[in-house]
Amino acid sequence: MINTTSRRKIEHLKLCAESPVESRNVSAGFEDVTLIHRALPELNMDKLDLSVDLLGKRLKAPFLIASITGGHPDTISVNSALAAAAEELGVGIGVGSQRAAIDDPAQEESFKVVREKAPNAFVYGNVGAAQIREYGIDGVEKLVEMIDADALAIHLNFLQEAIQPEGDRDATGCLDMIREICSALGTPVIIKETGAGISREDAILLQKAGVSAIDVGGAGGTSWAGVEVYRARESGDSASENLGELFWDFGIPTVASIIESRVSLPIIATGGVRTGLDIAKSIALGANAASAALPFVGPALEGKNRLSVSFPACWMSSELRCFYVAVQTYRTCAMHPWSLPAGLLNTCGNEALT
Ligand SMILES: Cc1cc2nc3c(=O)[nH]c(=O)nc-3n(C[C@H](O)[C@H](O)[C@H](O)COP(=O)(O)O)c2cc1C
Repeated sequence: MINTTSRRKIEHLKLCAESPVESRNVSAGFEDVTLIHRALPELNMDKLDLSVDLLGKRLKAPFLIASITGGHPDTISVNSALAAAAEELGVGIGVGSQRAAIDDPAQEESFKVVREKAPNAFVYGNVGAAQIREYGIDGVEKLVEMIDADALAIHLNFLQEAIQPEGDRDATGCLDMIREICSALGTPVIIKETGAGISREDAILLQKAGVSAIDVGGAGGTSWAGVEVYRARESGDSASENLGELFWDFGIPTVASIIESRVSLPIIATGGVRTGLDIAKSIALGANAASAALPFVGPALEGKNRLSVSFPACWMSSELRCFYVAVQTYRTCAMHPWSLPAGLLNTCGNEALT
């Protein structure tokens, strides 16, 4: 029998594939960032090396398929397609929240398939901050073992939890538990927001708690308040629907959140990253890698062939060649490779550009 967590996973996946779920009136902010053009780049485009180290593993390009799914039998083929693409391209891949496999061990296969199909990739596990208090160190160790993870992402989604009728409204004690997990777990911990961004204040708290990396998960891409609007509408829950509408565009845009999160930890830029140029701009602003979820949901639901065709077309084409040049240009040129609106400049010091 399929339980509530498992059923919700498949509902989210289908909703994201079929409905407009991105921010409506807020942008991730990439259009505000201008990379300084080098008319004399002095590079050979065919010899560019884009590989980066992330938490002890080498990626062929600074990109990860963000945490998306698992936890329902129908997600096995989705994760299989995503993992095969990650392995082929040498990029990283996250699994969706492993809570469903804790609730029902029969769902473990939908997560394990990621490591099976991507034996060499940087694979990261996933659990909600709301759940770690319950699972404790032993519980999170099991999540890492389940997929032989290179890192564990603990996601922060309290905006969504506040809107979901079944959501967890108690966010107390999470920071203490994050601190405990960071010191006890022998695997790097990534803290990831899921569409509302990380502020400077929270980035500093997370750094002090001992996290290994921050995934900013900023506003401007998939809106989880928005996703909950559709679920609430379907179930006739008008209070949750109104709340979701009100907070649809809430959060710190990705570009601002990258800048806010520069606290000498590796940064993953997520939230509305849609082109190779967005990745380049993220890196110019101080991120070590970028990730995206929504662009891969539809193709992955349609299976491996569709994904292996659409993935390289979307990310490895001329857009990405442009990104290669931009990043390499950034690496070889003087600072100030961007311009930002005045509102963002007050947090934009020089300190984190190393
Ligand atoms: C269908 C779907 C399911 C997701 N499930 C999870 C999840 O289980 N855990 C998590 O940390 N993030 C989850 N996310 C959030 C993404 O990892 C990412 O932070 C967010 O969607 C913003 O990126 P985007 O604008 O490229 O979609 C999910 C995203 C999508 C589209």
